[in-house]
Amino acid sequence: MSDISVLGIFVADISFSGTKIPAIGETILGDKYNVGPGGKGCNQAIAIARLGGRVDFISKIGKDAYGELALNTLKKNEIKTENIIQDANLQTGVAGILVDKKSGKNAINVIVGAPTTLKINEISKQINIIKNSKIFLTQLEVPKDVTLHCLKIAKENRCITILNPAPASEITKEFYSNIDYFTPNETEAEFYTGIKITSEKEAKLAAHKLISFGIKKVIITLGEKGLFYADGQDEIYLKANSVKTVDTTGAGDAFNGGLAFGLSKGKSIKECLELANKVAGISTTKLGAGNAMPYLADI
Ligand code: RIB
Repeated sequence: MSDISVLGIFVADISFSGTKIPAIGETILGDKYNVGPGGKGCNQAIAIARLGGRVDFISKIGKDAYGELALNTLKKNEIKTENIIQDANLQTGVAGILVDKKSGKNAINVIVGAPTTLKINEISKQINIIKNSKIFLTQLEVPKDVTLHCLKIAKENRCITILNPAPASEITKEFYSNIDYFTPNETEAEFYTGIKITSEKEAKLAAHKLISFGIKKVIITLGEKGLFYADGQDEIYLKANSVKTVDTTGAGDAFNGGLAFGLSKGKSIKECLELANKVAGISTTKLGAGNAMPYLADI
C-alpha cells in the first residue's frame, strides 16, 4: 500500500509554443511542439513519484496509442499500472495547449475521454487503496459523484484529503466538509469566493471566506507572486522562487504533488509549502507537464 493515492485523469498533452497565444481567427507560425503526458492527476502522481514518494494513481484510459503512452509513462516513473481501468471502447483523452514562450502562460482545452464514464461501482478495488492511504489527493477532472464519494471514504478512514479544485466548477456543500486542504490558484479562488485576487490582502480575504464554508486549510497559489496559506489560526505568505520560466503548464500539479509528498513525510506546513513552491517553480523551466516534474535531486 502506498502513502498517497491520487484520483484523476491522464491525457496526452499536445503543446504548441510560440511568440504569443493566437487570438480568435488568427494564425501564427510557432517555434516548437511537444506531445507528452498530462492530465492533472497523472502530473501530480508523477511529481510525487519523482520526489521519492509512494503513490498509487487511480484512473481510466482507452486501449489506444495514447493509452500506451499513459502506461509507459507510469512504468517509467515507477507508478503501478494496476489501478488504471482500460476500456477498448473508449478513447484516451488529449489536451490542446497553446503556450506563450515569453511568459510561459498558456490556454488549455482538455478532452477528458475515457474518465468521463468513470463510475463508483467500477473502482471498489481502488477504494481499498484510498482507505489505506495517509493522503488522498484529487482534482475536478473526473465525474463529481466519484470525486465526492472518494473524498468521503478517505475522510471516514482518517486520510488527509487534498482537493485541487481545478478546473474550477460548481461543487456542493458536502464537498467542503470532506476537504482538509483546498488548493485553488487565484482564478479558481475568485470562482469560489467572488473575490478578485491581486494582492496578499485579497488572498487573505478569499482564504477566510473559503474557511467559513467549512474547509480546514486553504492554500491559494498566486503564480509568480507565490502563495498564501491560512487555517483559521496560522497564516503564511511565501514568495515564488525565481526561475527561468518556459511553460507554466502543470505548475499547480507540481505544487500539489510536492504538498502531498511533504505531508506524507510528516513535515511541518511551512516545510511542505516551501518544498511544494520549489517543485512548482522548477516544473516551469521545461516545455510540457508530466515530463517537466523535477526529481528530488533537482530540488
Ligand atoms: O494542470 C495542467 C494539466 O491540465 C495539463 O497537463 C492538461 O492536460 C490539463 O489536464
